[in-house]
Amino acid sequence: MWMNDPNGLVFFEGEYHLFYQYYPERNVWGPMHWGHAVSRDLVHWEQLPIALYPDSLGYIFSGSAAVDWSNTSGFGENGKPPLVAMFTLHNMTREKAGRKDVESQGIAYSNDRGRTWTKYSANPVLPNTENQRDFRDPKIVWHEASKKWIVVLAVGDHAEFWSAPDLIHWTHLSDFGKEYGAHGGVWECPDFFPIRVEGTSETKWVLLQNLNPGGPNGGSCLQYFVGQFDGKTFSLDPDFAKSVSNGNGIWVDWGKDNYAGVTWSDLPKSDGRRLLLGWMSNWEYAQEVPTVAWRNAATLPRELVLTNTSEGYRFKCRPVKELKSLRKKSFELPKGEITEKIDLSDKLKFSPAQSEWVLEFKLPEDLTPAVSSVDRFRGSVGIELSNAKGETYRIGYDGNKNQFFSDRTKSGDHSFSKTFAAGIHTAPRISKAGVLRIHLYFDVASAELFADDGSTVMTELYFPTEIFNQAKIFVEGEKLTLSSGSIYALSRIWK
Ligand code: FRU
Repeated sequence: MWMNDPNGLVFFEGEYHLFYQYYPERNVWGPMHWGHAVSRDLVHWEQLPIALYPDSLGYIFSGSAAVDWSNTSGFGENGKPPLVAMFTLHNMTREKAGRKDVESQGIAYSNDRGRTWTKYSANPVLPNTENQRDFRDPKIVWHEASKKWIVVLAVGDHAEFWSAPDLIHWTHLSDFGKEYGAHGGVWECPDFFPIRVEGTSETKWVLLQNLNPGGPNGGSCLQYFVGQFDGKTFSLDPDFAKSVSNGNGIWVDWGKDNYAGVTWSDLPKSDGRRLLLGWMSNWEYAQEVPTVAWRNAATLPRELVLTNTSEGYRFKCRPVKELKSLRKKSFELPKGEITEKIDLSDKLKFSPAQSEWVLEFKLPEDLTPAVSSVDRFRGSVGIELSNAKGETYRIGYDGNKNQFFSDRTKSGDHSFSKTFAAGIHTAPRISKAGVLRIHLYFDVASAELFADDGSTVMTELYFPTEIFNQAKIFVEGEKLTLSSGSIYALSRIWK
């Protein structure tokens, strides 16, 4: 049935929890519940019973969860820390009455590894006292330095920071964002966490801020901000502030189908990763996509890595390493110059419809500052999936424009939406390296591109009316050298 945002991502006792916006009765949005699934490896998932049902205070909108290690809330039992979830209560009676104070925040806790949840009897713990129409999607994070809980809320055109000693008694700290970042729509589903800058001992605080609409290719999308947090105020790194002035957004994913991305709380220090999961759809057409028994899915889990670039702090976003366990068979491509195309349809002994690609091309240029720019590659290179009906999906790199592209304009059914196949979607090439890396996952109806080690990411849906069982690598306009290339058949994650 219907799903949207991931909620309450938390790791506890060996399990990754995934809650999600869920309407169990129909394949369109409706009274929101928190569905629930768990995984021990981020690859195989077990569906569990619904965790939270709507109640007299409202639908259960998006939110987060964390382990309350010191039992600050007092909800723990037998000396064990409880799991605490915080979510938005969206009151439809008030909405229908035209009131503004429709959203407030509630909490619930679990003492049995997330299997059952008890809502706090005095909800809402964070009422909407200032009548703000959009006041939702709480992200809770423990702030070690001040030994307090912080919650970040999405409030229309900004994020609000609040704190509490116990997850129950909240005080407003500060606001962020009216004058920074993209504002083509309403801010939703924030995330907030400290992260170490790759290869250094420096820590930054990051605010992920989903936005709908206003994305680089239209509709729903995820932007982020890098700065510091003193326990009260989030302030941007000076270079980052420059990049996000004038309404500019810095995006985690340039594709149209990665929204409401948030990260897992409480991964063990020994792991140290920051893992992101998004909803693989876009509010432009999420309710109309041509699926029946289910509607919409999550993206692959990804690792966020903060790097210090010549432009300032930027994320690289890579598929989690656990996904390698799905590789079943591999096909090694011949290295060397590609002048036009490599048709793989008779060569692959498996379906390209569900496959992983790891390709490396040698570009004639190297734009890293140390090397002066020489000949540029002015052609296009990429992968094309197709079927006997002539439907095609193409994804790749356009050297002329120095950008990646995803072309689903002829990929099958798009009758359900005016915008779904309206144009080719693009993303700038951020990397300046002389090697072009393409890491790509196809599922039956989706592509997830991690280019240049995750410097440019695109997640896109498509709906062929017959499975894509043909594949080719194409090079157009110029020739290009493939320095290495593997294609993997992937196992199903369900038994
Ligand atoms: C984002 C969102 C959230 C809200 C939820 C409702 O997709 O609009 O802001 O909590 O979906 O399902």
